[in-house]
Amino acid sequence: MQKRNITILGIESSCDDTSAAIVRDGVILSNVIASQKVHEEYGGVVPELASRAHQQHIIPVVDSAIKRAGITKDEIGAVAFTRGPGLLGSLLVGTSFAKGFSLARSIPLIEVNHLQAHVLALFIKEKGIEFNPPEFPFLCLLVSGGNSQIILVRDYLDMEVIGQTIDDAAGEAFDKCAKVMGLPYPGGPHVDRLAKEGDPFRFEFSRPRIPGLDYSFSGLKTNFLYFLRDQLKVNENFIQENKTDLCASLQHTIIQILLSKLKRAARETGIKEITIAGGVSANSGLRNALKESAQKFRWNLIIPKFEYTMDNAAMIAITGYFKYLKKEFVGQNVVPFARTQL
Ligand code: KG4
Repeated sequence: MQKRNITILGIESSCDDTSAAIVRDGVILSNVIASQKVHEEYGGVVPELASRAHQQHIIPVVDSAIKRAGITKDEIGAVAFTRGPGLLGSLLVGTSFAKGFSLARSIPLIEVNHLQAHVLALFIKEKGIEFNPPEFPFLCLLVSGGNSQIILVRDYLDMEVIGQTIDDAAGEAFDKCAKVMGLPYPGGPHVDRLAKEGDPFRFEFSRPRIPGLDYSFSGLKTNFLYFLRDQLKVNENFIQENKTDLCASLQHTIIQILLSKLKRAARETGIKEITIAGGVSANSGLRNALKESAQKFRWNLIIPKFEYTMDNAAMIAITGYFKYLKKEFVGQNVVPFARTQL
């Protein structure tokens, strides 16, 4: 049963984006994201710098989310925040802010699992835009910088991880291989862009043989690294001369690895309602490959809007909304977790 006029402030600070969003009755009113540029020169996120940047951003970001939503803070009925998984120092900033806000405003506090929120981003409603959510039960391929999972979603708050990476995540594979090629961080979008010009069948890289529905990407990363090292011994311009083919072949391998287990999960569960979430779901090659599989296997494929696939507070606020309806609140003694399961 849905109640009216439930306004939730969502806070996301698990990695290197500080974000705040306002959701009212499941409809997004604002979603503000401050990305941190400070990490670019290091080729990866530096945890201590991330938490300091969150401290600088959190108040202006929340302030602007409230203003853009056209509401006052008196109208906020609850505050939801990312409790984990993520970088502990970063999570601590969002958690502390949310606790303070809840205490000062005497409103409920709602903890949110970041991974669950990535899945529930599929249920974000936007004013005046057709709402096309998946039907339960569905499978979600959650692919981000820190996770690669296949999740069986039975209900908003009832999810089971049926396959996951045993080492690196797909996003990590993109980023680490991109770094070896001298591409800026995060490398995923750069590989995606360059892959469009290259031949995906030019080079063949290793694919893991992991039983069941689990993934592994560390073997591919090592294979890619050694392949480049050997080629550079013969031709020091090898990367420069073959960049687009390297990107296309790498991307093709990652997509094939992701899709093989997803197809297997669909076959084994008999579920044809398929969705995707997480930063890597922005990859154009992956989106096209999923569309092809959807046609072939008659899946009902639902791909969320690009801006909600990356880390954002709209997904935290919408998860907070579903938890609010079930009165799933937490006390002031709540602490963040660097690692959590769904
Ligand atoms: O979900 P997300 O924003 O946050 C983390 O889990 O950190 O995902 C970030 C990841 C990075 O690894 C980034 O390289 C990857 O998503 N990514 C992409 C693309 N856009 C972002 N990977 C491949 N192709 C893209 N277009």
